[in-house]
Amino acid sequence: MSKPNFFKKSFAFLSILCLCAGTVFAQTQQQLPAIVKTGSHYQLLVNGRPFFILGGQCHNSSAWPAFLPKVWAAIETMHANTLEAPIYWDQLEAAPGKFDFSLVDTLLKQARIHHVHLVLLWFGTWKNGSNHYMPDWMKLDPAKYPNITGKKGQPVDSPSPHSPYTLHADIGAFTALMQHLKNSDRQRTVIMVQVENEPGSWGSIRDYAPDAQRLFEGDVPKALLNPDVLKALGRPAVNSGTWQQVFGDRAAEYFQAWSIAGYIGKVAAAGKKAYPLPLYVNVALRNPFTNPSADNYESGGATDNVIPIWKAAAPAIDLLAPDVYLEGSKNILKVLDLYHRADNPLLVPEFALKPESARYLFAVAARGGLGFAPFGIDDNGRGETTAERLERLNEFANEYAVLASMDEQLALWASEGKVSAVCEDETHGQQSISLGAWDMLISFGKGSANAMKPDSIPLGKALVVKLSENEFLAAGELCHITFRPAGNHAAKAWQYLKVQEGVYVNGEFKVRRELNGDETDWGGPYFGERPVLLRITLTTR
Ligand code: DGJ
Repeated sequence: MSKPNFFKKSFAFLSILCLCAGTVFAQTQQQLPAIVKTGSHYQLLVNGRPFFILGGQCHNSSAWPAFLPKVWAAIETMHANTLEAPIYWDQLEAAPGKFDFSLVDTLLKQARIHHVHLVLLWFGTWKNGSNHYMPDWMKLDPAKYPNITGKKGQPVDSPSPHSPYTLHADIGAFTALMQHLKNSDRQRTVIMVQVENEPGSWGSIRDYAPDAQRLFEGDVPKALLNPDVLKALGRPAVNSGTWQQVFGDRAAEYFQAWSIAGYIGKVAAAGKKAYPLPLYVNVALRNPFTNPSADNYESGGATDNVIPIWKAAAPAIDLLAPDVYLEGSKNILKVLDLYHRADNPLLVPEFALKPESARYLFAVAARGGLGFAPFGIDDNGRGETTAERLERLNEFANEYAVLASMDEQLALWASEGKVSAVCEDETHGQQSISLGAWDMLISFGKGSANAMKPDSIPLGKALVVKLSENEFLAAGELCHITFRPAGNHAAKAWQYLKVQEGVYVNGEFKVRRELNGDETDWGGPYFGERPVLLRITLTTR
């Protein structure tokens, strides 16, 4: 055998070997989850495919093996595709530098058995503004791992963002967690990680301890004096100045936001370096209309007014996510608009678990959002009967049942800006969606189209995807829909060409029945108490 021939054959053999190994590797090693920008919208990619999180978050103390069965039962009832579950720093690192990943591994293993993804919530330095998940060895050494001090020198139940020791410890633990996920989650069961939980401080707008005070009296850091950041904060351009000089009556809050965001930005950057998953920070909200003073809400968290500060201080955080416990559809829709920004994909990781919350999933999708989850899905033994619990889960379960088999399509359409939606408001009034050559008109309630009786709790909703000029996919609950020619079709006579009720299976719409006669004649199709999917084709005459 001549040498070149031998090399050629060996090379061919090696290439085949590499290809086979590559295939086997690709089967076990999926693509990393990622958030990508598609034009003016975003997409969450899971295993390289668009993915919409139909999630549920368990209670704070439920991510323990003995309590997970109730969590999985709720996830199954809901038809959810993702569980959001906490990771507890005090359990993970009960002794300094010694990590116990047993709870993480249990979650990974059981999530795979239940065929759902995980969003892990890092209960680290901050949990609802406090240090309650810090390991005991940190809680027992408050001089090294201090809380903040209030204006009158009073102790405040919130960790200091100025302690280098706390920061160092959190970076160590979070990095260890991310490194562990990198090593043990080749299947990419975990698709996102929340860094801390509702960081900020209740009870004091900022830290008044001597080291913090010195920083507050010093100059505003240059990065925050970037003209774009100042403009976004509604401040005139300046080259230098103290916090008070540059930010006036908002100085204390902005200082706290900058300090906390900078700290979390460092934790996130270190974790991302170990394993680059999408990372987010969740937010305890403030009233979105009244611009209240920060002593009325959790100061320093990524509330709508300080988003530009967080973006400048924590670029490793992919998105800032509102936890929606506000009342009233006007407030809620406003919050969704405030967090759906060119520099911030919308994700709602916590919604109050009330039947009337479910309808906002449609509003999130219509804003190109990445996902949605109600909080506290499992029975945590606080006295609720099974029937009461099921009632609270039902609205979400019915909705997810329709969407679960089409989450990829939904994510794709949402990222293409093709989804529109309306949610019944407290007036129960008719609403409309403009679809180019058609307007869709939506009336909420029960009964016949011209005498709809609204429910006392607004549960109605409608979502529509524009498939082509005259073809739409609609989902809805407790509403009548009809159409009105507009734009090119204005004033033309029209009729339904086809109204098909169906489900999505493997990316295709499967027709279950065609609606006609009474089901379309009397004011158009009606959506009852369980959401269904309709493919509607209209024509003019
Ligand atoms: C928001 C927090 O992020 C959750 O962990 C939980 O404490 C809920 N509030 C309780 O309503």
